[in-house]
Amino acid sequence: MRKYRVAVAAATVTIVFLVAAFAGLSHAQDAAKPAAKAAEKQAAFLSNKPCQMCHKGAAKGEIYEKWVASSHSKAFTVLPAEAKKNPKCFACHTTGAGKTGGYDPAAKNALDLEGVGCESCHGAAGDYKLIHMKDKAKALTLGLVIPTEATCKSCHAGAVPEGHKALPKFDFAVSKTKIEHKLPPKK
Ligand code: HEC
Ligand code: HEC
Ligand code: HEC
Ligand code: HEC
Repeated sequence: MRKYRVAVAAATVTIVFLVAAFAGLSHAQDAAKPAAKAAEKQAAFLSNKPCQMCHKGAAKGEIYEKWVASSHSKAFTVLPAEAKKNPKCFACHTTGAGKTGGYDPAAKNALDLEGVGCESCHGAAGDYKLIHMKDKAKALTLGLVIPTEATCKSCHAGAVPEGHKALPKFDFAVSKTKIEHKLPPKK
């Protein structure tokens, strides 16, 4: 009986060792081609839904509420009915159109990705959603974006389709104050 237990324990140790070795091996292979990996795997868009849990309410700085009140939340609503089906309008009036998990009129979550959502400015959250609150540096490597003037200009100074009203000259400093949202001060 005792002998049997020892044998089982030894076998278990061997299996654990093998699994660990395999995991290490595949890890090393992953590390060997990080650039290719990054290019083929794009973080998925999740919509604003998961952000509400932590960024909504007075104690959290009302970031979600400020977004709802901003014109970015209405960027799809302002489109005329026929434009709501026109893919030429999606790049700047929805979130993540044409990208992994992004706006797709045929998808179940289409409604959640209408308008210019958090991820239009902060990047697709699929890979940074959980880590960003503890490790900003890591999150930045996983797709978190701290928006700059260029982020805004991809839409505000982008090429608009024929017939679009001319975009007003984009003043980053002024525009930024109009959409300002802040985390509550740290206690
Ligand atoms: C489980 C809670 C939680 C969820 C879900 C969450 N966040 Fe956060 N987020 C936080 C916390 C906490 C911080 C503040 C971290 C700190 O104080 O450094 C933060 C910080 C941020 C920051 C600021 C990063 C910086 O350091 O400048 C951004 C941008 C952000 N979140 C965007 C989002 C978006 C977009 C979503 C939805 C896809 C989201 N968060 C979902 C908890 C969360
Ligand atoms: C390159 C990005 C881009 C594309 C593509 C785009 N828009 Fe816009 N659109 C904007 C921006 C930016 C604004 C906000 C302009 C401002 O600051 O007033 C806007 C505003 C609008 C408005 C509100 C205008 C108003 O009167 O205030 C409508 C309506 C609109 N777009 C319709 C469309 C339609 C229809 C399409 C597709 C045929 C489209 N847009 C494609 C960037 C774009
Ligand atoms: C994905 C495209 C997109 C991005 C990125 C984007 N915007 Fe917008 N923005 C729009 C559209 C479209 C509207 C018009 C929405 C409407 O009329 O309801 C708009 C409207 C606005 C308005 C209101 C315009 C007004 O005067 O009434 C401000 C301010 C603004 N954006 C600031 C910014 C800033 C600052 C950034 C970057 C930090 C930014 N936007 C990034 C698409 C975008
Ligand atoms: C139109 C672009 C835009 C959208 C949409 C947007 N943000 Fe931001 N966000 C910004 C900019 C710009 C900053 C300031 C970045 C900096 O520190 O320079 C910012 C900062 C933040 C911060 C850090 C604030 C602080 O005090 O450090 C958090 C958290 C955040 N955003 C969460 C969100 C969430 C959650 C949503 C959706 C409900 C959202 N944002 C939507 C542009 C945007």
